[in-house]
Amino acid sequence: MRIDVEIIIAANADGVAIAAADVVTDMIRDTPNAVLGLATGSSPLGLYAELAARVADGLDMTAVRGFALDEYVGLTPDDPRSYAHVIDTNVTGPLRLDPGNVHVPAGVGDDLVAACRQYEDDITRAGGIDLQILGIGRNGHLGFNEPASSFDSRTRIALLAESTRRDNARFFERPEDVPVQCVTQGLGTIMEARTTVLIATGTSKAEAITRAVRGPVSTQCPASILQRHQHAVIIVDEAAAAGLRSTDDYRHADSA
Ligand code: GLP
Repeated sequence: MRIDVEIIIAANADGVAIAAADVVTDMIRDTPNAVLGLATGSSPLGLYAELAARVADGLDMTAVRGFALDEYVGLTPDDPRSYAHVIDTNVTGPLRLDPGNVHVPAGVGDDLVAACRQYEDDITRAGGIDLQILGIGRNGHLGFNEPASSFDSRTRIALLAESTRRDNARFFERPEDVPVQCVTQGLGTIMEARTTVLIATGTSKAEAITRAVRGPVSTQCPASILQRHQHAVIIVDEAAAAGLRSTDDYRHADSA
């Protein structure tokens, strides 16, 4: 079987963070004003922490531009549960990015549909996304593109799957506080990034990774579209790689 994505397996979550930071660092050394797509959720936090350590050691990310992947509808940027706040706290500040260069889809406003169109225009005007950082939902979602999202979808308002609302309830006081709607870059938007780097750790992601990498390319597993991406890198720990076979074409990251 031919696998079109580049798979890197690290021993643990620290190794995943380092391997992913190596990919981002190479990009920034080549292109100091690179445009990054910024995922939220737990998965990329180790990567952001590793990059912050490298910035403290002299890596210059001040010219880097960023576009967040998604946002909850109804949460303002000053709400600690909003992805705007998460990006501010974990990315913009620690990586010393210029706040004027970091964009997050609006979750509140009079005309969110127009704001979605504007977001796409802003990405285009920035020259497109050089490197899109991604996590994966247990149901195979990318951003908030839940199963059955169109592969051609663009930045839009979408509904969260009930399973995703349950998964993300840990960030909210009560399960019913989890928003029902979100704004997310579409799968078509994500596929236009020149490189994608998907990060997954832990056994809870093993099935989604197996379906994304080995399963049919199907809207039932949105991440499977990455099999058709021109340069998709998937970086996982041993636990998330449990469903991949030893005959698959992957390499082990240097041990952390
Ligand atoms: C969240 C986010 C995604 C993220 C995924 C996995 O709901 N919208 O962008 O990649 O689900 O989250 P986590 O990394 O916390 O497991």
